Amino acid sequence: MNFTGSHILSIQQFDRSDIERIFTVADAMAPYALRRRVTRVLEGAILGNMFFEPSTRTRISFGSAFNLLGGEVRETTGIETSALAKGESLYDTARVLSGFSDVICMRHPQSGSVAEFAEASRVPVLNGGDGANEHPSQALLDLYTIRKEMESRGRGVDGLRIAMIGDLKYGRTVHSLCKLLCLYQGVHVTLVSPRELAMPEAIVEQLRESGHSVTVTEDLPSSIASVDIAYSTRIQEERFDTKEEADLYRGRFRLNQAIYTQYCEPNTVIMHPLPRDSRQEANELDNDLNQNPNLAIFRQADNGVVVRMALFALVLDVVDQVDQHAREVNWFNSLRRP
Ligand code: CP
Repeated sequence: MNFTGSHILSIQQFDRSDIERIFTVADAMAPYALRRRVTRVLEGAILGNMFFEPSTRTRISFGSAFNLLGGEVRETTGIETSALAKGESLYDTARVLSGFSDVICMRHPQSGSVAEFAEASRVPVLNGGDGANEHPSQALLDLYTIRKEMESRGRGVDGLRIAMIGDLKYGRTVHSLCKLLCLYQGVHVTLVSPRELAMPEAIVEQLRESGHSVTVTEDLPSSIASVDIAYSTRIQEERFDTKEEADLYRGRFRLNQAIYTQYCEPNTVIMHPLPRDSRQEANELDNDLNQNPNLAIFRQADNGVVVRMALFALVLDVVDQVDQHAREVNWFNSLRRP
């Protein structure tokens, strides 16, 4: 695809060469993300960071990525503090805010809302998560992480064995990740969820049509016994009508060190898009895994910065100029220590 000026709304818009392009650019962003160098390539540019749903990682990661490229960030958070609460349409919001920004990142609780917004926007829009639909930048950072983790084990993404665990009905990160894996070959996908929270059938079909093997199960131990990646997800309480309904499923699939040791192969990588629900009644990924070197959840979050820097550099067409606007840094920074 031609990235310049494009909206990034869905994983469906990419082919495998696009993914390789994003990851190559992401690799080149590492010295900047690690503060070995700074670049001012986007000096003067403004990111409109509009998060109409709670977020920690995606909002700050997009904002940090833009800052690391030298740009400035203007934010709005929460529907209740925006004019959407006064009945303003997405169309009007997009027409107005795209006049203030060079690029916009947006999260919104309704599926399809970011695409609707993008239609009216005069600048590129990046989907930071639209309801239960998609979270494309998360899937990209997830796959970037999977690729790195597998490379360190002498493997690639083709032939991957992955278990996705938890709320697969409402979990937009796993929806996007499944669509992304469809670009690869011979992937073995095990989908572990309560029956009521199963992966949408259309996505299961898409995996099968791509030639992947798909196993659907409610049994955690057998599903994590022979996989390279155990990808856990949170029960998406905000998508349920009531907390009580979400409570029915919370804590159904818990992974801790004892379970890992008993059932997983020794090098199985543990992933989670975060936030993990660490409340006692949920605790899908126990804190006792924090010292497990195969716990990749914080590497995932770190990788989000370089992947999002790559998206900005591609969409705003500055990939070849990043190094020209760079200099060394001289302040103390723990990230740079060997
Ligand atoms: N992974 C993710 O989307 O996290 P946030 O909700 O904190 O942005």
